Amino acid sequence: MTNATTTAVAKVLKGGKNTPPPIWLMRQAGRYLPEYRQIRQHFKDFIEFCLQPEAVTRVTLQPIQRFDFDAAIIFSDILVIPHALGQRVQFIEGTGPVLDHVDWATFLEKAEKQSVLPFLSPVFDAIRLTRQALVPEKSLIGFVGSPWTLACYMLQQGKVKDAPSGNYSPPFINSLLRILQKHCADFLTAQIQAGCDVIQIFDSWASLVPHPYQEDYLWKPLQFITESIQKKFPHIPIVYYGRGVNQFYPTLALRLPGICFGLDQTVSPEWAALHVQTPVQGNLDPERLVRGEFKDSVERILDFLSLKPFVFNLGHGILPQTPLENVHQLVDQIRNKTY
Ligand code: CP3
Repeated sequence: MTNATTTAVAKVLKGGKNTPPPIWLMRQAGRYLPEYRQIRQHFKDFIEFCLQPEAVTRVTLQPIQRFDFDAAIIFSDILVIPHALGQRVQFIEGTGPVLDHVDWATFLEKAEKQSVLPFLSPVFDAIRLTRQALVPEKSLIGFVGSPWTLACYMLQQGKVKDAPSGNYSPPFINSLLRILQKHCADFLTAQIQAGCDVIQIFDSWASLVPHPYQEDYLWKPLQFITESIQKKFPHIPIVYYGRGVNQFYPTLALRLPGICFGLDQTVSPEWAALHVQTPVQGNLDPERLVRGEFKDSVERILDFLSLKPFVFNLGHGILPQTPLENVHQLVDQIRNKTY
């Protein structure tokens, strides 16, 4: 067993020493890596792939072996929860996720009584295997999608275009979110018990929530999840990545003590350094990494955000067309700078 507070990312997110900042990249295991594409072709079905502990361990470790990142993020997907609840998820090449149509009344009734944990037990096996293979200083990140972001995919069957709140009543959406928040907390708890020492909540579609509903759809479910984790595991840092809602982080930090924030690329490092009073993670534009035009942006991010507890990351997931050489240069720039 490693002491959770000793891994590189956990240490910084708990307010520790920072320079050079630890680095990992959102979606770091994936199609930009030839070794990922090689394993991927052996699995027709993506979810099935996510439930093979040995294959998951191998792809989780690939970006660490290639780039020596400071954290591994367990290879899985936010959509394993709807799939475990009985809404089948398929990934279609060139289209993305496609979720089955379900009868919502029957679905909610069943989902309320169910546990997702037995179905997801291969994920916990993969976490145990990955932890054994990682050196003790590297962090192992577990994650979930936020209830709202999961609901966006579930209610629109995979094609998220706009807020599903137009077509479904607030009481219905609230009951779906209340059910999902419990499954998210259970899933994170089990990931921590299996060996994850940092967790991240992906809220990629947070900006779609109409302002009057933010409280019910975003902040209450987030509070439920963070409080249930913090009660059981006060030493585990929690990162909330809310794409498009970074301006709410200063007030959210007061309301949810102990939470850390993932910044997207829409906020300036200057603003974040001044206004976000928690450890942060971010926020290079992934398009810049593709184009190889990132030196100045990275310098600015480091100059402003290294003043506080800070983990280097992208503002969103790494893109499949990212040249590997650019990732090597990025890591070198961060580690070789004089702080
Ligand atoms: O390396 C890692 O970061 C761990 C693995 C991981 C995946 N998805 C693997 C994946 C993580 C953390 C995710 C999170 C995720 N999944 C999010 C939140 C982050 C974000 O990007 O906003 C979301 C919204 C999803 C849902 C999802 N999964 C979509 C929309 C797609 C299709 C588009 C795409 O990027 O391919 C996926 C598929 C997916 N998830 C792939 C991978 C490696 C590609 C599938 C393949 O290899 O065929």
